[in-house]
Amino acid sequence: MSNLTNIISKKPNKGLKGVITIPPDKSISHRSLIFGALSRGKIKITNFSQGADCHATLKIIKQLGCEVNFLNERTLELIAPKKLSAPANALDCGNSGTSMRLLSGLLAAQDFKCTLIGDESLSKRPMKRVIEPLNLMGAKIKSNNYKAPLEIDGTSLTPIEYFSPIASAQVKSCILLAGMNTHGATTVWENSLSRNHSEKMLKYLEAQIQTGHSDKGFYTNIQKSELTPKDIEIAGDISSAAFFMVMAATVPNSEIIIKNVGLNNTRTGIIDVFDKMNVDYKILDKKIISNEEVGDIKVSYTPDIKACEISGDIIPRLIDELPIIAVLAARAKGKTVIKDAQDLRNKESDRISALAQGLKKIGVNIEEKPDGFIIFGDNKEFEGNCEVETYFDHRLAMSFFCAGLLSKNPVNIKDFGWVNTSFPEFLDLFNKISQ
Ligand code: S3P
Repeated sequence: MSNLTNIISKKPNKGLKGVITIPPDKSISHRSLIFGALSRGKIKITNFSQGADCHATLKIIKQLGCEVNFLNERTLELIAPKKLSAPANALDCGNSGTSMRLLSGLLAAQDFKCTLIGDESLSKRPMKRVIEPLNLMGAKIKSNNYKAPLEIDGTSLTPIEYFSPIASAQVKSCILLAGMNTHGATTVWENSLSRNHSEKMLKYLEAQIQTGHSDKGFYTNIQKSELTPKDIEIAGDISSAAFFMVMAATVPNSEIIIKNVGLNNTRTGIIDVFDKMNVDYKILDKKIISNEEVGDIKVSYTPDIKACEISGDIIPRLIDELPIIAVLAARAKGKTVIKDAQDLRNKESDRISALAQGLKKIGVNIEEKPDGFIIFGDNKEFEGNCEVETYFDHRLAMSFFCAGLLSKNPVNIKDFGWVNTSFPEFLDLFNKISQ
């Protein structure tokens, strides 16, 4: 499906039922390649994302000298060189902020020059958040007023202690990648803990890393580290599961089981919201794979969803799920307030204004705030009968699709194909559970 494909979403005739396996986690997939590229050995990565973002990182690590062989669609063998080498061409991150921000940390500490570029949406996103700490370490980076393209002249860096002004896993991981290639100890502090997949994978690959919490906040400390090459199995993506979790909770007569969902507690804010909103769900069969917790989630239609407030430390634990949580809130009885989420304006789109604009057209009573939304929900169907824009943003496309299922009249979603960024299997899985 091309990114410019439009589709129509409409109320299903019956409830959604069945068992689905959600695609691999995007954040962990990127990290498996990036840390794998530094492992100086051969590793097998199982359940790797088929999304365009992770394939952008894959192409880049190949340009840096890694060999990648696919054993099947989602299993690959990565052979990392003893030392990464200068790429012949620019490194294209496409739509992927994670690729650009993490790789800038890795590349700033190499001994060659390279340029990171991105698509129209990524070229508008802020890179100061990574350039600033890297500059403090002595990095040489030229940018277009702190935006891509980033021309990186790799050099040896000095360690830092950095208090991150935002709880961002991309910033934290960028600094850790620079720090692990630098003599001495680098420490990153955060006020609220952002997703910790880098720390967990680095521990799994036996890096010299410590994490903890004190009255100053959450810290991660890393020393110059050699990684042990080990096979990595990737958990399913709770951010992708979230769309199906909300569909099952809101479409009458639904009950679905989603298998193999990553349950790392820095990502499970949506489950806490389900508790607050009284959504009927169960977690089954928990286990650990490659140092990450996974389990199955069963969600059933819930007629009496409650409104709630979502703010503070929970925000980094559900930042990517806020668009679909807004749809859930529109079906809850009462006023849901979402605050402290101003960084949503810096995602693939300005998710606060783009989401409010689309949901208003669909018939949701939503008020845009500088750092979030207020949603006045009730149990009624939305009006629908409109066309909504997706602004290069996969999560908006899927959230509007879910809102269309809850509307009296169809919703036409423009450029729905942006789902390919993270979740090319979305429509196939939907067709599997809709009867
Ligand atoms: C990600 C971190 C988050 C998230 C993004 C993926 C990661 O971004 O929104 O989709 O893999 O590190 P921030 O670090 O900007 O919060």
